[in-house]
Amino acid sequence: MKVAVLGYGTVGVGVYEMLQAAEGLEAGPVLVRPGKVNEPFKVDSIEAITGDATVDAVAEVMGGVEPAFTYALAAIQAGKHFVTSNKALVAAKGVELNRAARENGVAFLFSAACGGGVPILHNLARAVETDEILSVGGILNGTTNYMLDQMQSIGLDYGEALRQAQQLGYAEADPTADVTGLDALRKIMLACAVAWGELPQEGLLNEGIDSFTAEDVRDLAARGFVCRLVASGKRAEDGRLAAYVEPVLVSAGDAESAVLRNYNMARYEGRCSGPIAMIGQGAGRYPTASAVLRDLSGIAAGESAMFPAGCVNGAADNSAEVHEYYVRLPKAAVHSLPVAAVLSDDGETLRFRTGEVSVKTMHETAASLRADHHAVFFAACRRSA
Ligand SMILES: NC(=O)c1ccc[n+]([C@@H]2O[C@H](COP(=O)([O-])OP(=O)(O)OC[C@H]3O[C@@H](n4cnc5c(N)ncnc54)[C@H](OP(=O)(O)O)[C@@H]3O)[C@@H](O)[C@H]2O)c1
Repeated sequence: MKVAVLGYGTVGVGVYEMLQAAEGLEAGPVLVRPGKVNEPFKVDSIEAITGDATVDAVAEVMGGVEPAFTYALAAIQAGKHFVTSNKALVAAKGVELNRAARENGVAFLFSAACGGGVPILHNLARAVETDEILSVGGILNGTTNYMLDQMQSIGLDYGEALRQAQQLGYAEADPTADVTGLDALRKIMLACAVAWGELPQEGLLNEGIDSFTAEDVRDLAARGFVCRLVASGKRAEDGRLAAYVEPVLVSAGDAESAVLRNYNMARYEGRCSGPIAMIGQGAGRYPTASAVLRDLSGIAAGESAMFPAGCVNGAADNSAEVHEYYVRLPKAAVHSLPVAAVLSDDGETLRFRTGEVSVKTMHETAASLRADHHAVFFAACRRSA
């Protein structure tokens, strides 16, 4: 199977290199921007790929929604299988791409878009054929896990942890999507659609780690907790879909506490299988390229879809998901949440554990306090803080 590659950056170079050695796969043309065709295998127009009858599949590793979506549709309509590592594309346009691929009788796979090298979507797509999926989630962003680990294991402050993550190439020059939880949210959107055939577009909530301070680290460590950024997706009995990202407090015995550096831990729970977790590299050239290659060899072996037929865009409703939260906020704003236990009070800042609060209420309350210029940090408690 001959594979064209769209984009020749971090992942694209890895995909092209791995294609040279992959059994049953062959490297085809690589799309680069006009003016960057400096080697014979590179081309600078999508038509050079869609019009090439020898190309069987297209691997998109450029990023962004446009022109990736236009190119994806052109490739699919030209009868090429389509594989991507681009979570922004699949989160925004996955339903359309799934429909187009099925109408044109080609495959549409995107393992690398959630979990990098961790084969969560691949396994989830197989699991839904025989089991009912109850929940999906985990630590799905390696950049923020690296930052949290550095802050909590060696005491870096937030700014230094971010600088290190950028120096090591884990964080983008603009780290907003990582630190606000948006990147992890896009990944949980994909996992929800694979698990339940509904790609949520509204009602989603993401709280990141950009409010987490060295003082929070010290207070939580004294209480025996570690903070992780966790994405959660769940389908309730009544069909309501919860999908959100937020900091979670875990203890030494919890699996998430052992996920260090830039690793991911993706998990799902099937009614029959019970909980399953996978730990591995969530990003990086070769881990991500390995997931793209896994999809391509899967196509050669007959795999064709991750989203079920009839997958639709939908909405999340996080009002029935309830947790106790650890909260730090100015004392003047304490009336906004139910206090179950005050943990510390220095006269200006209060740390407390809430009673049960819905995810929707917690996120919306924090947003409205911040709109009033109050500094707020919150994290869901697995056990009582
Ligand atoms: N890096 C990772 O570890 C990782 C992990 C999982 C998923 N992903 C996803 O994989 C995708 C690629 O990530 P990356 O890290 O490889 O990004 P990258 O290093 O920025 O590479 C993207 C490449 O695509 C090229 N490109 C962008 N738009 C193009 C266009 N219109 N025509 C031709 N070439 C174009 C860029 O060219 P210019 O340099 O000329 O702009 C660049 O060479 C993203 O969707 C990302 O979210 C990445």
